Amino acid sequence: MQITLKTPLDMHLHLRDHEMLQTVAPLSAETFSAAIIMPNLVPPVTTIEEVIAYKERISKATGNLNFDPLMTLFFKNDYSYDFLKQAKAHITAIKLYPAGITTNSESGVSSIDSENLRHTLEAMSELEIPLCIHGETDGFVMDREKEFVPIYEDLAKNYPNLKIIMEHITTKDSVEALDRHPNLYATITLHHLLITLDDVAGGMLKPHLFCKPIAKRYEDREALLKVALEAHPKVMFGSDSAPHPQHAKEACGCAAGVFTAPIALQVLAELFETHNKLDNLQSFISDNAQKIYHYTPSPKAVVLEKKPFTVPETYDNVVPMYAGEEIAWSITSLS
Ligand code: DOR
Ligand code: ZN
Repeated sequence: MQITLKTPLDMHLHLRDHEMLQTVAPLSAETFSAAIIMPNLVPPVTTIEEVIAYKERISKATGNLNFDPLMTLFFKNDYSYDFLKQAKAHITAIKLYPAGITTNSESGVSSIDSENLRHTLEAMSELEIPLCIHGETDGFVMDREKEFVPIYEDLAKNYPNLKIIMEHITTKDSVEALDRHPNLYATITLHHLLITLDDVAGGMLKPHLFCKPIAKRYEDREALLKVALEAHPKVMFGSDSAPHPQHAKEACGCAAGVFTAPIALQVLAELFETHNKLDNLQSFISDNAQKIYHYTPSPKAVVLEKKPFTVPETYDNVVPMYAGEEIAWSITSLS
């Protein structure tokens, strides 16, 4: 059995910087046509100069792999209309983090409500710059995303012309909110389609599956699977592949993030095949995102075959999901 995926897109990706960038960027660039690049570097990407320089470093690290890094700015509430107008030529979206909610988000927004953010969100609406949001409160860890849904809805109602992407959704509540607002969209990761909290902490603790938002309940995973497998037009694939060095994951104080970039397409093929939905994978992996973001990628084709592949234990010092395990599908050709 085989499938050809055209122009795979990863609509939420962490490529980091320096040595880590050199390790991970080629792995995404080989198999994906483009990706939305997260801005949570240290310090975060907040100026046009930083966007341009980071994009150049990514392009250098990905060489001739025909990969388009779609850049983002780290949301600050003091961006002026004129700044955003200039920035628009260099970015695809702006990523909003609640302050301190996840890796390198300390300088995020501490009060997220539609009034507090009015000036910036009105400018973004007018300039048609999509807003990507890490939607978690600082409440009890299993309820953080659920508690954020009313905030998504408040923003969606108050800024009907703003395209809002609920990033890496993990709950049934977020899935249900999608259809209530025409301007709400979502990315879904691979790992949240596969695991629940049981896989992370139900037996021996699995640091390589620890991420934010944390994987939730079975009914949440079911709800995510349903919209992904049917390729609901408002959802798209965003891996949230978030590499950390092995020593930072296997530590007392484990960094959040699952590194899935090198195995994402193979495991998605297996998942969609298992559910008899392989025909919908093209929409989930590329077509929906193209429509949502009005983006046309340059050609790339990835042929996958149902043929076992043993996942490497590490890529340099980063441990991927399924490290050392055999997965059912392989990539057999790239063009
Ligand atoms: O698990 C995560 N890792 N979630 C995030 O929101 C950030 C990411 C990272 O940058 O490591
Ligand atoms: Zn992320």
